[in-house]
Amino acid sequence: MKSSVTSATALLLALAGSPAAAAPVVDTAYPYTGPDVPVGDWVDPTVNGNGKGFPRLVEPPAVRPATANPTNNINVISLSYLPKGINIHFQTPFGLGVAPSVRWGTRKDKLDKEATGTTHTYDRTPPCSQVVVTQCSQFFHEVQLHDLKPGTTYYYQIQAANGTTASDVLSFSTARAAGDDTPFTVAVLADMGYTNAGGTYKQLLDVLHQDAAFVWHGGDISYADDWYSGILPCEDDWPVCYNGSSTSLPGGGPIPDEYKVPLPAGEIANQGGPQGGDMSVLYESNWDLWQQWLNNVTKQVPYMVLPGNHEAACAEFDGPGNILTAYLNDNEKNTTVPKSNLTYYSCPPSQRNYTAFQHRFRMPGAETGGVGNFWYSFDYGLVHFVAIDGETDYAGSPEWPFAQDLKKGETHPTPEETFVTDSGPFGAVDGDYNDNKAYQQYKWLAADLASVDRKKTPWVIAMSHRPMYSSEVSSYQQKIRTAFEGLMLQYGVDAYLSGHIHWYERLWPLGANGTIDRAAIVDKHTYIANTGKSITHLINGMAGNIESHSTLDQSKILNITAVLDQEHYGLNKLTVHNASVLTWTFVRGDGSVGDELTLIKKKKCKGKQH
Ligand SMILES: *[C@@H]1O[C@H](CO)[C@@H](O)[C@H](O)[C@H]1NC(C)=O
Ligand SMILES: *[C@@H]1O[C@H](CO)[C@@H](O)[C@H](O)[C@H]1NC(C)=O
Ligand SMILES: *[C@@H]1O[C@H](CO)[C@@H](O)[C@H](O)[C@H]1NC(C)=O
Ligand SMILES: *[C@@H]1O[C@H](CO)[C@@H](O)[C@H](O)[C@H]1NC(C)=O
Ligand SMILES: *[C@@H]1O[C@H](CO)[C@@H](O)[C@H](O)[C@H]1NC(C)=O
Ligand SMILES: *[C@@H]1O[C@H](CO)[C@@H](O)[C@H](O)[C@H]1NC(C)=O
Ligand SMILES: *[C@@H]1O[C@H](CO)[C@@H](O)[C@H](O)[C@H]1NC(C)=O
Ligand SMILES: *[C@@H]1O[C@H](CO)[C@@H](O)[C@H](O)[C@H]1NC(C)=O
Ligand SMILES: *[C@@H]1O[C@H](CO)[C@@H](O)[C@H](O)[C@H]1NC(C)=O
Ligand SMILES: [Fe+2]
Repeated sequence: MKSSVTSATALLLALAGSPAAAAPVVDTAYPYTGPDVPVGDWVDPTVNGNGKGFPRLVEPPAVRPATANPTNNINVISLSYLPKGINIHFQTPFGLGVAPSVRWGTRKDKLDKEATGTTHTYDRTPPCSQVVVTQCSQFFHEVQLHDLKPGTTYYYQIQAANGTTASDVLSFSTARAAGDDTPFTVAVLADMGYTNAGGTYKQLLDVLHQDAAFVWHGGDISYADDWYSGILPCEDDWPVCYNGSSTSLPGGGPIPDEYKVPLPAGEIANQGGPQGGDMSVLYESNWDLWQQWLNNVTKQVPYMVLPGNHEAACAEFDGPGNILTAYLNDNEKNTTVPKSNLTYYSCPPSQRNYTAFQHRFRMPGAETGGVGNFWYSFDYGLVHFVAIDGETDYAGSPEWPFAQDLKKGETHPTPEETFVTDSGPFGAVDGDYNDNKAYQQYKWLAADLASVDRKKTPWVIAMSHRPMYSSEVSSYQQKIRTAFEGLMLQYGVDAYLSGHIHWYERLWPLGANGTIDRAAIVDKHTYIANTGKSITHLINGMAGNIESHSTLDQSKILNITAVLDQEHYGLNKLTVHNASVLTWTFVRGDGSVGDELTLIKKKKCKGKQH
């Protein structure tokens, strides 16, 4: 049985004038047999632990409630671009009883317009009725402001309803019109969780104070699925998994007071934080925590996201002897199963198939011919930005559809044939799923790139979570190249950004099949955008998360790699100076510069696209 949006609901949504993303579809053909709260406290798997000071991390909500005991609250506010407009997304633990409403205007003291929107929700586990209301999101509201002036500051205030407190009067700026040649800066990052990301967070706020236009996050958002790090025996190469005797955090720095709380009786001392113990161990709570942490960013500039592998489901790690597998599949604690057998049904329905990701963000897929938060594009000044789904919806994608699990003659896989991260397709597949050209995403990318007016947006920058090239060679890279590299070269994409590998890596300009385009190299820090011949590839997986850095033996660095930093966390600043120059700066967590690249575009040939 599949639950899906009925056409009547779809019609209602359309009539509401504010198209919400279609409700995610989750296959429930086989029952979930794990614990009610899939991951609680390992000692006392209830929502709030055993009440003996178990370390639980919290972050302030977007709106401080006006009363001491609020019954509902605005916990997260997150902006995103729409063509000629903005989407104001906000999150509350309970419904509002009315359409979500925002008052807005061009002056802080005169919010003379009102816009209303729509609400969506999912069966999060545990529900917010069991969680503190200032730390829980279950209702997701989208209010859209359309036909705004480009490059203009607007003020807005989310209205109170059903127990919430109205937000402060906040502001945002709309995207500059395509063709506007005023310089601007963007913060680009990927693979950002909570642990290890403190420096990146600080730099993010600094870049915004320097007037960055928006943030572009290339997937792996929050690492909510990594709650397992608190209940699995730690791997030696995960520095965050201290065993109780260590007194320092990865990267140094003082231990926050909340980590110093003594372990509850019965807790295994070799897990979680520096003193042992789990650090925020519920999937949905991890999402809430991270989104609330980012409020200071997401409520003031658009926060544009892409899907990564960590958004797929409540878990992705599996292996023989995995305690988690016994727990999730069979609700058995402190025991292991001999073989890997996490399946699509190992997570509760609300934690599969990118459900949380689809509810917790609202990207302009629908408005730009793409699909939801998966693939979309937008213009800002001299740049056309293209977001690609590197996880699903192309031949051999790393998170794969049920079609790929099927044995001959089957129409539906058995649980054993699936894996927990099976996901998508989110677009149509018109033909064989092994044929890239059958995919809606491929067709969309071709059409989107073909429609770019290079006179207005001479720069075209694409991003997906998955790199096409790296010194860390992996089979998915060939698949994403097979799917998209040809189109990107054909239409002259200038730069391809990605993450997934937890380091900073800048490649030499690369033509088809990874040939180094010597003609495009001026010097180590200056490339020429050799449109149609080569692409600048950058990997930005170093924002910081509980999995720490990826590492590579120095002797394995390939000649395609110009710069590799396996040590520092941080983000990138992309500055578009004009139609001929953009710069790229890797800013480390302490503010120092890790790398710089200038990309130069020569005068375009008259009238021709490339
Ligand atoms: C209003 O909030 C309460 C919790 O305070 C909740 O039980 C109720 O369902 C909400 N009303 C609506 C219409 O969602
Ligand atoms: C904890 O880790 C430290 C540092 O790796 C190691 O020296 C020590 O033996 C470990 N203790 C236990 C109880 O595993
Ligand atoms: C977020 O912004 C508020 C208000 O400006 C400020 O008080 C708070 O310290 C900021 N939080 C962080 C983590 O920077
Ligand atoms: C888990 O099992 C091991 C051995 O089977 C036992 O020593 C340990 O006390 C158990 N831990 C808990 C928390 O039950
Ligand atoms: C996982 O494997 C164990 C034993 O190997 C078995 O008892 C269990 O039913 C399997 N679970 C699933 C969901 O296949
Ligand atoms: C995921 O959701 C999409 C629709 O959004 C659906 O077509 C697909 O079958 C689902 N995939 C899985 C593996 O549940
Ligand atoms: C890359 O190499 C493969 C075989 O090695 C070849 O079939 C393909 O055409 C090449 N791609 C391009 C764009 O040249
Ligand atoms: C880079 O290394 C590959 C093999 O690893 C070799 O085929 C290629 O010629 C080298 N390219 C350059 C430009 O040195
Ligand atoms: C573009 O910007 C760069 C860097 O600021 C500057 O050096 C260059 O002169 C500018 N070029 C044009 C054509 O304005
Ligand atoms: Fe990843």
